[in-house]
Amino acid sequence: MSKKPLILGIETSCDETAASIITENELGNPIVLSNIVSSQVEVHKEFGGVVPELAARSHIEKIDWIVQKAIDESGKKINEIDAVASTAGPGLIVCLSVGLSFGKAFAASIDKPFIAVNHLEGHALSPKLNSNLNYPYLLLLISGGHSQFLNVQGLGKYKRLGTTIDDALGEAFDKTAKLLGIDFPGGPQIEILAKKGDPNKYNLPKPIFNKGGCNLSFAGLKTAVLRITKNIKTDQEKFNLAASFQKTIEEILYKKTKVAFKEFEKQNDLTEKNFVVAGGVAANKNIRNMLISLCVEENYQSVFPPIELCGDNAAMIAIVGLEKFKLKEFSQLDHPAKPRWPLDEDAAFLKGAGVNLD
Ligand code: KG4
Ligand code: ZN
Repeated sequence: MSKKPLILGIETSCDETAASIITENELGNPIVLSNIVSSQVEVHKEFGGVVPELAARSHIEKIDWIVQKAIDESGKKINEIDAVASTAGPGLIVCLSVGLSFGKAFAASIDKPFIAVNHLEGHALSPKLNSNLNYPYLLLLISGGHSQFLNVQGLGKYKRLGTTIDDALGEAFDKTAKLLGIDFPGGPQIEILAKKGDPNKYNLPKPIFNKGGCNLSFAGLKTAVLRITKNIKTDQEKFNLAASFQKTIEEILYKKTKVAFKEFEKQNDLTEKNFVVAGGVAANKNIRNMLISLCVEENYQSVFPPIELCGDNAAMIAIVGLEKFKLKEFSQLDHPAKPRWPLDEDAAFLKGAGVNLD
């Protein structure tokens, strides 16, 4: 029986310090032996968002014991690790540098290969941690920094079908929450408040709803929410706005996912139709349920990572490491931290003023 690879994954691209040990079973299915995530929510709460220097300092303080804890909980020994995979981008450069340098030094010290991982590829492959997923699949990646539809054709083979032209969806949730007086990160709280409100009370805009293919836009919603919050006096009105926001997002994603299905089908000769939703916002149960119903209507199989693997974690970095390890795709020890690192390098930069989607 051949030894199965044992991979250490490390993630420090934003405000989570995380380490994980994974391996695989005889059938080649991944097994997560440990998955430690230390969030810095308390560090950044009073600032209403992530402060890069504070985040980096916190990573430096915690990285040693988080990695040690991941190794201890896995029940394995340091000398059994076959490769070390660290996030190299995209993200905050001061934060990325911590996990990247640590991972490189760790790999060098045990004389094992180092693998630089794209954080977005981690989200993209996260459903593989708990399900048998074949390529190609359509991915909706919705996180605090990104909102994209991608045609995932294989490891490292991504074709972007659509992207946000302004705010990411998680950012839109967090900004709306802030306007409603909810502490950062407010995304999950909006979902909870929305349950107590009337979703039909406020009519919010749906930018580029009927144009721009499956590209997305959320900045107009924030402006509308800002205008409404100025006149909000009661808690019930707050709940109604949260519910209206949640409903509008669901309507946008329903419509745009349908458009993305068509584009995905045009690009692939499909024997099975798989739709994966990943990233922090994929933890939103209403969005999950709505997309599951859409998949039933459209004959797609829907695949979600478990809730605990939707947000940033190192098991998703380790799974990319594992796949690359099997292909012997190792990185040099001078691999740079990359604040911007799109999955589809050929896709046009579609952000900021002047984007024309007519
Ligand atoms: O993937 P992630 O952990 O970090 C990034 O790579 O950005 O995503 C974090 C984002 C935050 O904006 C957070 O508010 C949002 O995901 N989020 C949610 C929910 N849980 C997390 N947004 C809406 N509903 C949720 N339940
Ligand atoms: Zn992320």
